[in-house]
Amino acid sequence: MKETKQEYIPALSFRFLTPFYDFIQKYIVRDVRYKTLLIQQANIQAGHKVLDLGCGTGTLAIMVKESQPDADVFGLDADPDMLKVAKQKSDEKNASVTFDTGFTNELPYPDATFDRVMSSIMIHHLKTPDKIKTAKEVFRVLKPGGELHIIDFGKPYTLYGKMLGPFLYRFEEANDNIAGDLPKIFGDPGLKTEITGHFWTFFGDLAFLKGKKN
Ligand SMILES: C[S@@+](CC[C@H](N)C(=O)[O-])C[C@H]1O[C@@H](n2cnc3c(N)ncnc32)[C@H](O)[C@@H]1O
Repeated sequence: MKETKQEYIPALSFRFLTPFYDFIQKYIVRDVRYKTLLIQQANIQAGHKVLDLGCGTGTLAIMVKESQPDADVFGLDADPDMLKVAKQKSDEKNASVTFDTGFTNELPYPDATFDRVMSSIMIHHLKTPDKIKTAKEVFRVLKPGGELHIIDFGKPYTLYGKMLGPFLYRFEEANDNIAGDLPKIFGDPGLKTEITGHFWTFFGDLAFLKGKKN
């Protein structure tokens, strides 16, 4: 896998925490539950080409492949260490997923490649200009009629989430999320976007976003 030049925030902010990533996701964040809901929302069909943006250790991409074995699934992430785990997991599960190293603001795919672009708790790793570039890239790589499905931090809706809000707001990358700006940012290039639901976690309130390219 080729080395990348841009900076990015690792999954748990610090590299030494990477080996604990899947444990925290599974037992503290309950990621399988919200990833299952995101996959249901995406309604992936046989023959679809699906991209998991910022796929990390590949859990969502592998779940997509298991839920629809006739889909062609890709996972992209900037962190080669996360992708090594993803590759190992997909080999163990015999789930054929293509994992690519790359940045969300410069996707290594031609225009109109994907029927579905999905992303799970990675957009809050991007500063506003990179979110805007990523939104343009998502629009570019989606086919006409294609859909974007994101789960990430959103505008707090529980009392607990509202109490955590000011703390999360200290992290610049999460500000657009907490302000509820993701539908606008991903809608600006031309997608019709909407928030479709919420999911409570110990780390804050997540929101499901859907976008459609006409
Ligand atoms: C919190 S993890 C989420 C991983 C996975 N989607 C999941 O749900 O478990 C965020 C991921 O985004 C990746 N990432 C951060 N900035 C990125 C960027 N600009 N381009 C591509 N990947 C990025 C990190 O390497 C990390 O694997």
